[in-house]
Amino acid sequence: MMDQQKPDLEQLKQDLSAAIDVATGLDTLDAVRVHALGKNGVVTNLLKTLGGMSPEERKVEGPRINGLRSEIAGAIEAKKDALAAEELAERMASETLDLSLPPKDTPKGSVHPVSQVMDELAEIFADLGFAVATGPEIEDDWHNFTALNIPESHPARAMHDTFYFGENQMRDGMPMMLRTHTSPVQIRTMTSGEPPFRIIAPGRTYRSDSDATHTPMFHQVEGLVIDRDITMGHLKWTLETFVKAFFERDDIVLRFRPSYFPFTEPSAEIDMGFSVENGRRIVGGDPNGPDGGWMELGGSGMVNRHVIAACNLDPDEWQGFAFGCGIDRLAMLKYGMDDLRAFFDGDLRWIEHYGFSALDVPTLSAGVGA
Ligand code: PHE
Repeated sequence: MMDQQKPDLEQLKQDLSAAIDVATGLDTLDAVRVHALGKNGVVTNLLKTLGGMSPEERKVEGPRINGLRSEIAGAIEAKKDALAAEELAERMASETLDLSLPPKDTPKGSVHPVSQVMDELAEIFADLGFAVATGPEIEDDWHNFTALNIPESHPARAMHDTFYFGENQMRDGMPMMLRTHTSPVQIRTMTSGEPPFRIIAPGRTYRSDSDATHTPMFHQVEGLVIDRDITMGHLKWTLETFVKAFFERDDIVLRFRPSYFPFTEPSAEIDMGFSVENGRRIVGGDPNGPDGGWMELGGSGMVNRHVIAACNLDPDEWQGFAFGCGIDRLAMLKYGMDDLRAFFDGDLRWIEHYGFSALDVPTLSAGVGA
């Protein structure tokens, strides 16, 4: 190779260094790398020329060309680090977290008025010494009827519009059913523990019935007290205390109307006095005043001795009272809904309007209907 044909390594180094300097991104920098050090790169090609040189020439040129190669490779690495650091700094500046922004509101759901009223009932009756008892919604004939003094062919069975299961769901030769009331929980309580008993049993009940105030599934709360020397006076006081606490008014009067239930004797239907305030019918006030009157709360009575005996307790030693009320109606009266069917339609707008915050737990001191 002739001397004058020797490439100007100094010039090449300056050109490549300048290209590395002005590279503004990793892409352009990589293009420079390929141009200089790639398989067919200018520096790579210079290295290839070493093979055709005489040993003396190679001794001189070898270190020069190799030096150039490592210098360019080093410069590219350094530039790469600088670009990455720059990119990171840019991202850090543009992606700052604004911790003063309020968080997005997450939907919390709300408590159904029926659940709310059940909680209120539990709170009120817990204060009176009542425990909450439960029973199955699929009941057998003995618990739902026979033990409650409603024998087979008793006309009271017809009043219940019962949903029966088919022949493959039988117990003791009788078809199972969806319980028609919460009264079977009276039986389950008395047969599974030792008296005295003080319980309420809120829950779902079923009857084949449907209009603006009746749905095939509805809710009842049962009350049961079994002890020695229990009288109707205890029943009346308990119900009065309950409705006053529930509706949060002291001027509620109750009226007991003689009635009939097979499982209580004597039996009474309980009415609550209502009046009209600001054009709205409310529980409480003077039922004999203008627009006043009575509305039904539920059924009650002294537990029939046949029922106590059916549960293997001595009716001469143990007696007490029981009552049963519709929970859905309690909710409608207290919170002002007028169509029962909407309770169970599952319309989100309804529950958002009438529902309760899960954090507002009913307490006697803060008012149960928080
Ligand atoms: N179980 C009765 C009903 O559903 C209500 C009731 C309960 C009556 C307890 C008296 C005593 O109609």
